[in-house]
Parts: sequence; C-alpha cells; structure tokens
Amino acid sequence: MRKLDITTPIAILGAGAMGGGIAQLAASSGHSVVLFDSNPEQIMRAQSAIDKTLKRQVEKGQIDEAKARSILKRIILAEDVDAVRECGLVIEAIIESLKAKQDLFSRVENLVSTDTILATNTSSLSIASIASACRNPGRLVGIHFFNPAPVMPLVEIIPGILTDADVSDAARGLIDRWGKTTVLAKDTPGFIVNRIARPFYSESIRQLEEGVADAPTIDWAMRERGFRMGPFELMDFIGNDVNYKVTEIVFESFFYDPRFKPSLTQKRLVEARLFGRKSGRGYYDYSAGVPAPEPNKDSKLCEAISSRVLAMLINEAADALFMGVASKIDIETAMTKGVNYPKGLLHWADELGIENVLAQLEALHQEYGEDRYRPNPLLRRMAKAGQSFF
Ligand SMILES: NC(=O)c1ccc[n+]([C@@H]2O[C@H](COP(=O)([O-])OP(=O)(O)OC[C@H]3O[C@@H](n4cnc5c(N)ncnc54)[C@H](O)[C@@H]3O)[C@@H](O)[C@H]2O)c1
Repeated sequence: MRKLDITTPIAILGAGAMGGGIAQLAASSGHSVVLFDSNPEQIMRAQSAIDKTLKRQVEKGQIDEAKARSILKRIILAEDVDAVRECGLVIEAIIESLKAKQDLFSRVENLVSTDTILATNTSSLSIASIASACRNPGRLVGIHFFNPAPVMPLVEIIPGILTDADVSDAARGLIDRWGKTTVLAKDTPGFIVNRIARPFYSESIRQLEEGVADAPTIDWAMRERGFRMGPFELMDFIGNDVNYKVTEIVFESFFYDPRFKPSLTQKRLVEARLFGRKSGRGYYDYSAGVPAPEPNKDSKLCEAISSRVLAMLINEAADALFMGVASKIDIETAMTKGVNYPKGLLHWADELGIENVLAQLEALHQEYGEDRYRPNPLLRRMAKAGQSFF
C-alpha cells in the first residue's frame, strides 16, 4: 500500500456538507485535493462555502490571506470523476445510498493506482457492504468525520471485515497528523458515537411521553448534569428528520433490538415537518417573539430524570465494550470529543458505582418488563466482582 503523507493528492467524492468540509480540512493540512461531485452547482456551492470559511478565519486572525489563497488554490474542482486518477487516497462522501456508493467505487477503483487507499464517510452503511463492490475490498476503510469536519475533533476509523491492517493504520496515521483525534471502531451499526448516544434522545423522549416532565425541564435536568445541551434542544438543532433517521437505521440494523426502538413522538414531528430550528418549530417554537418556556427546577425531578438517561447511556457504553466495538479509552474519547459529553460514560459509571447503575437498570427492567431496559451482562459481572472500569 502507498504511504500516506503530505505529498499524497487526495480525492473527495461528493461536495455536500461533509465533502466540502473534508476538502477544506485536507487542503488546510497541505494536500492537493480534487473535489468531485456529479452536480456542478454543488461544487460551486462548496467552493464558495470554503471561501467564506477561510475569509472568516482571516478576519479572526487564525490564518493570513496568503495562506487562505494557497488553501483554496490547492482544491481542484472536478465535474468528471476521471480527475481522481493521480490520487493516493480517495474519501467518498456522496449521498447515503449503498447502490450509489458501490457504483462509484467500482468505477473509481479502475481509475486509480492499485495502491490507492479508498475510504468512505458513511454514517450508517456497513464498510463490508460498500467494499464488496471493489475487486480489492482490502483497500477500503471507513473514515467517519463529524459535522462540521474542519471543526469537530473526533474521527472514527472503521476497518471492514476484509480491510488490510496497513490500510486502516495508514488512514489513522494520516488523520492523526491532520490534528484530529481518531478512535478505532468495529464495523457495527452506528459505530461508536451514533450507537452509544441513542438513549440520550430516546430515554428523554420516553420520559416526555410518560409525562415525567416537559421538554424544557428534561433539557434543564440534563444540562444540570453537565451536558452542554439538553436532548430536545439538541434534536431541534440537529434536525428531527436527521436524528430520527439515524435512530431508525440503527434500530433496523440491530435486527429490531428494542433497546434502539425509535419513538412515535419524534416520528410525528418529522411527519408534520416540525424538523426543529431549520423549519422554525420542533419540540420548541422558534418563531420571533415566542418566549422560551420555563423548566420546573425541582432538584429531585432533575436527579430522577438525568440518572435514568445516564444509566441507559452507561448501559450502551458497557455493551459497546462488551461486544468489542471499541476499547475502553476509545469509547471514552468518542463520547467526550464526538458529542461533547462532560465525562466518559465508563468513568461516570465508576463514579456512580457500577452496582448503583445496575440497580437502577434492574428496577426499570422489572417495572416495565421491557427488553429495552435489560442490563448488560458486563455490568452484572462487574457488580458481582466489585470491579470498576478504571
Ligand atoms: N451530515 C452529517 O452530519 C454527516 C456526518 C458524518 C457522515 N455523514 C455521511 O457523509 C455522506 C455525505 O453526507 P452529506 O451530509 O455531506 O450529504 P449531502 O447531501 O450534503 O451531499 C452529498 C453530495 O453527494 C453528491 N452526489 C450524490 N450522488 C453522487 C454521485 N454518484 N457521484 C458524485 N456525487 C454525488 C450530491 O450532489 C451532494 O453534493 C453520507 O454518507 C453521510 O451519511 C454525514
């Protein structure tokens, strides 16, 4: 396999939200970049978005004008996929469609050199399924950036079942040199972050549905617990359509495990096109002049709401470890750097006491009789042995 360094020309396939950001990041790290999209308008939009971001960086004094110009000059815009021929690394960020990704990779594989590394930024498809379109699936790896790619520090590296070790090592080494924090994830639904974070949303919605508290109170309770944003304001920010889709895909991909079941409340919001901030209304109404609703600042309620969500998050983090999705350290890093959690969930479990977290999950499991609340065997074993994660 070709070594990846600063002299490696990089192709980015897809100039949407992610592709544009990754192109900017690669060019800022010194690479010459080919940015390809099948839609010429999208390429122009990406270029002007990058231009705008760089201008802002100049205004803030983060880079000088000469540097901004050189970054922009390093990005070659391409309407024809043939332009990727000389690239040593190809990062695909086109629409989330297995067929589209497979078709594109089988074309690209014939254009580039045999030692070019192929990568996909997919959020929800398996690396194995995308790589199956290649004659040499060993050279394809998942490189999962978070939005916006130039800003978010975390990148998940996902080797597929057939990915060569030197391919994922080379990809990880390069992204580390770009100043990102990489974690290694198994090719399983949602990888690390999008899997473990599900209960932050679902258990909060569940409590809303049960009438435990309203959205502003649950948001307040989670902020009190140290989260930067409450679940409802965050879902409205991400977009309920986007957030619901991730939940739905993770649920389906886990063969309908009830732990990941989506909620009707969020589905109805999506059906009514109440996407959140971008549509003017979601869980909250963002119309001008509408005052922000007040939470019920009851400390007992805060504790009850937030510890229920936290216990479910810890259960998911424990499951990811138990199932070998990632190492302890990578699970902690992923949640603190990928979604800004105030602490790693496994450290949090130690702090609360594994036996206390387990007792809460067991109480929920018994009360509801739902598989959704089943405690992970790792927590049971650890509690029995009096162990902690760290
Ligand atoms: N948006 C996010 O928060 C996020 C985060 C991480 C990963 N991802 C993943 O990154 C990928 C891109 O997401 P996005 O949000 O940038 O999407 P987007 O819709 O903003 O952009 C997709 C781009 O792909 C182009 N395209 C579609 N088919 C193509 C083809 N056959 N050849 C070339 N270009 C084609 C479209 O014209 C569009 O510009 C998806 O796989 C998504 O799951 C998204």
